[in-house]
Amino acid sequence: MKQLHKQSSGIGHYKRDEEIPTSHSHPYSPKSLKHSNRSLPKSINYILREQRLLFILVGILIGSTFFVLQPSLSRLSTSESSSASTSIGIWSRDQISTTSGGGSNFGFGKTGRIPVGIARKRMRIVVTGGAGFVGSHLVDRLMARGDDVIVIDNFFTGRKENVMHHFGNPRFELIRHDVVEPILLEVDQIYHLACPASPVHYKFNPVKTIKTNVMGTLNMLGLAKRIGARFLLTSTSEVYGDPLEHPQKETYWGHVNPIGVRSCYDEGKRTAETLTMDYHRGAEVEVRIARIFNTYGPRMCLDDGRVVSNFVAQAIRKQPLTVYGDGKQTRSFQYVADLVNGLMALMEGEHIGPFNLGNPGEFTMLELAEVVKETVDSSATIEFHENTADDPHKRKPDISKAKELLNWEPKISLKQGLPLMVSDFRNRILNEDEGKGQ
Ligand SMILES: NC(=O)c1ccc[n+]([C@@H]2O[C@H](COP(=O)([O-])OP(=O)(O)OC[C@H]3O[C@@H](n4cnc5c(N)ncnc54)[C@H](O)[C@@H]3O)[C@@H](O)[C@H]2O)c1
Repeated sequence: MKQLHKQSSGIGHYKRDEEIPTSHSHPYSPKSLKHSNRSLPKSINYILREQRLLFILVGILIGSTFFVLQPSLSRLSTSESSSASTSIGIWSRDQISTTSGGGSNFGFGKTGRIPVGIARKRMRIVVTGGAGFVGSHLVDRLMARGDDVIVIDNFFTGRKENVMHHFGNPRFELIRHDVVEPILLEVDQIYHLACPASPVHYKFNPVKTIKTNVMGTLNMLGLAKRIGARFLLTSTSEVYGDPLEHPQKETYWGHVNPIGVRSCYDEGKRTAETLTMDYHRGAEVEVRIARIFNTYGPRMCLDDGRVVSNFVAQAIRKQPLTVYGDGKQTRSFQYVADLVNGLMALMEGEHIGPFNLGNPGEFTMLELAEVVKETVDSSATIEFHENTADDPHKRKPDISKAKELLNWEPKISLKQGLPLMVSDFRNRILNEDEGKGQ
């Protein structure tokens, strides 16, 4: 206090029109002192001395140049970041980038990428399991819409071939990563599909399946929470188990065996739904839940044990169609394009769900076998085998909720969709371009 007092009394010693000490003579002079003693001619004099005016003008010139050029600079930086992604795409052909740390995705400014007021906001979207059957079709649609898409996949059942037509596109990135491990990315939306879907694959390593469902979903929800992204879970009709209610509404809680051979998948998905809702309630994460019913289409694994792919592959290979049990159990079959429309409507809409996404058209296995015979080979024969454990007897979605709230319903019938799948299977079987989907 004493010191302060002394200083202020010292200031008082300067008279109004006395020369103010320059910063050279008193480098730590208080600013107020400098300003209070300034007169107009003196400040002009100050500006004119030592070419200060010139420096000010040059400063203004540099500042205005920056503001004039700023939009084109931001466009330039976008294309630079794009070319960085391109190189990832190009490497992907031979050696997929394994940037599991995700740090490389930081630093993309959101504002620079979007031409203001011209188009809808271009989003950056991550699709886990994006190299799989459903995921790759979803990726195609998001890319066609103009979004930036990052695929995360460990290639357990997915194939690079499913997405390699996007390699080289600067808006596309492919990361080999297992969702059981955390990842850091900066995105607007997360479509979480990573999980083997066919019984052959999810029973192959049941503990890994449940880890994928629980830890994988936890990791992606944690990411959604951290970055404020909207999260969509692809759950399944299997959460209804062997249903006692028919057709199944979203309000039905299911009839699931918790200790059976399918439980790693059924209970895994049920837990994933629980986690999703808890992150929504507890951490206000924006979530969406889709319960997907049997879906078919091009790019399904050839030998994944799912009934449509089984029948089609068998008919093309001139093998008998294997029917498990008496063939009277029913399923509904949805073409993949319809599902992708439903997933996108759900993600963009205002409703959390869960929503059943499936085709309510119901077929017995024997009826399906007949349609496959008509489409592929009318001379194909049918062979009956013992049924597998916990195989549900009936499965048919009630989709009235999705119709009403998402304005969605499937458009493609089995007879329209099957030929599209058959031509893809025929090409792959004839070209033998893949192994067994492993
Ligand atoms: N296709 C259907 O009929 C159907 C029905 C109900 C639910 N679903 C759900 O839809 C999603 C996609 O199914 P699909 O038919 O495309 O299956 P798919 O097996 O073709 O695709 C799953 C993808 O996830 C990847 N994956 C698996 N485990 C992973 C992990 N730990 N880390 C990273 N990637 C991993 C696989 O490599 C594959 O690319 C799944 O979650 C599935 O449960 C599908």
